[in-house]
Parts: sequence; structure tokens; C-alpha cells
Amino acid sequence: MPTAETTGRYTFDNDIPAAAEQLDHLAELLDPHSQRVLANTGVGPGWRCFDIGSGAGTIATWLAGRVGADGYVVAGDLKPHHVPAHHGIEVRRFDVRTDEVPAHAFDVIHARLVLMHLPERERVLHRLAQALAPGGYLVISDFHWSTASDLVLHAPNSGDEALFDLFNRTLADIAVRNGADLTWARRIHATMRAAGLAEVYTEIDVQSWAGGQSGCLLDRANSFQLEGQLRRAGMSHGQLEQVRALLLHPDFVRLSPLLLTSVGRK
Ligand SMILES: C[S@@+](CC[C@H](N)C(=O)[O-])C[C@H]1O[C@@H](n2cnc3c(N)ncnc32)[C@H](O)[C@@H]1O
Repeated sequence: MPTAETTGRYTFDNDIPAAAEQLDHLAELLDPHSQRVLANTGVGPGWRCFDIGSGAGTIATWLAGRVGADGYVVAGDLKPHHVPAHHGIEVRRFDVRTDEVPAHAFDVIHARLVLMHLPERERVLHRLAQALAPGGYLVISDFHWSTASDLVLHAPNSGDEALFDLFNRTLADIAVRNGADLTWARRIHATMRAAGLAEVYTEIDVQSWAGGQSGCLLDRANSFQLEGQLRRAGMSHGQLEQVRALLLHPDFVRLSPLLLTSVGRK
């Protein structure tokens, strides 16, 4: 449950204009990793899948292609309107904290960058584990989001690194105030074991993100999505404009957050 210090409100919002851009960048950056891990489960014709917090719907669409006409994919999201219509996908407005998990037995349940935002994450993971068919796979990915001052690999000007660190820390503080846990990703593995899942393993994806390319454009889209909260947290209009320019500069390069994906089997 949200504590007195957190709002318990999901930090981003799929209704805000910059959301489509944010979700597209996430898909471009992270789908190759997620698809590789999901493919390793053997997901294929006839499998029943549930993608939670589907965002742009690219993983649900990919799963629908794998499972074919004999399988099905449910795409559930608080605000699912970015999921494209597809004959193999049932799109649902769905709150994983409170709504009943659809009464199918799922062969794969996948959630990327969802549980880290939810104070109820451990209880949610236990419920999802229960919703698996025998032998089914739970695949959970979240960012281990560092606020250390050693993320910048190269910056065009002195002062850029401090500016980026301020932006990253302020963004992270906002997410934490809204209930996110920046280090939860490291506990997914143990939580899967505690939920009784077997064959648990964890894969890690890390990238370098250069100005003007998807990773930095994701940071930039976040700066627009959360402009009000960033300003209220003390960042000036000028600082935000400077950081946005930096995120377009090809000589700026940062280390991405670590994406930890844990896989467990019922
Ligand atoms: C950061 S986005 C990640 C989208 C996508 N999974 C990806 O990795 O590209 C988080 C998504 O989870 C959804 N979400 C947030 N809270 C949720 C909840 N309680 N139940 C279901 N979906 C939720 C958001 O609407 C958003 O689409």
C-alpha cells in the first residue's frame, strides 16, 4: 500500500501528449531484450499470454504473432489506448493492483517497467504467480535506476555532467515520491522464489545512450511529461531547456539504467 510519504500514483500518464513518444522509445530500446528472453521460454503456437502495462503494445503484438490463431494474448493497462487493434489481442482496461486477473490459465505473464512503480509490487507478483498455468512463465522486467553521479560517459561541456545528474536525481525523487522503488529490480528474483516459482533466472540489459538517439530522447520525453513536477521540485525552466539541448547533443553519452528481467516457472 502507498505509505503516508508516497502518492501511490503512477508517475507517468499515457494521456499526456509526450506519452506516445515515451512508449515508442521504450519499445525501440527494450523490445530486442524482452523478445529474446520471451523467445527463450519457447512461447509459440497455442500459448495463452497476458501482457500487463502494455504501453505501446509492441510486446503484445509480437506475442500475438508467436502464438497464432490457436493462442491468445490479453493486453491489460490502466490506460490501454496506445495498444493497436489486432485480431489476436484482447485489450483490457486493467489495474493490476486491484482488478481480478482474467480467469484464464496463462502460459506467459509479462510485465515490463510496471511493478517498480507500484507500492503493492510484492503482493502483485504473488498474485500473478498464482495466475500461471502449471509450467507457465512469469517474466518481470524493471529498471535498477541509479542516481549515482557516475552515469555520464562523455559530455560536450564542463557543467553538463552536474546538470544531467541533477535532472536524473530530481526525476528519480519524483518517481519515489509517487511510490516507485528504484532498486526493486534486484529483488524480483528473490520474490519469485518466495512466490514458489522454480527455475528462476535473471538477465540484464545495459546500453550506452547518446544524445539525439532513442535513450536520450526517452529522457527528453520524460522531461516534457513531468515538466510540472520537475518545476515544482526546483528545476528552473532554463535548466530544463539546457538539459533538453544536452539530450540532443551527439557528444553527450550516458549509461542507461540496468534493465533486470527475472523469469520464473510455476
Ligand atoms: C513505463 S510504461 C511501460 C510500458 C511497456 N510495458 C514498456 O515497457 O514499454 C508503464 C505502463 O504501465 C501502465 N500501468 C501503470 N500502472 C498500472 C497498473 N496499476 N495496472 C496496469 N497497468 C499499469 C501504464 O499505463 C503504462 O502503460
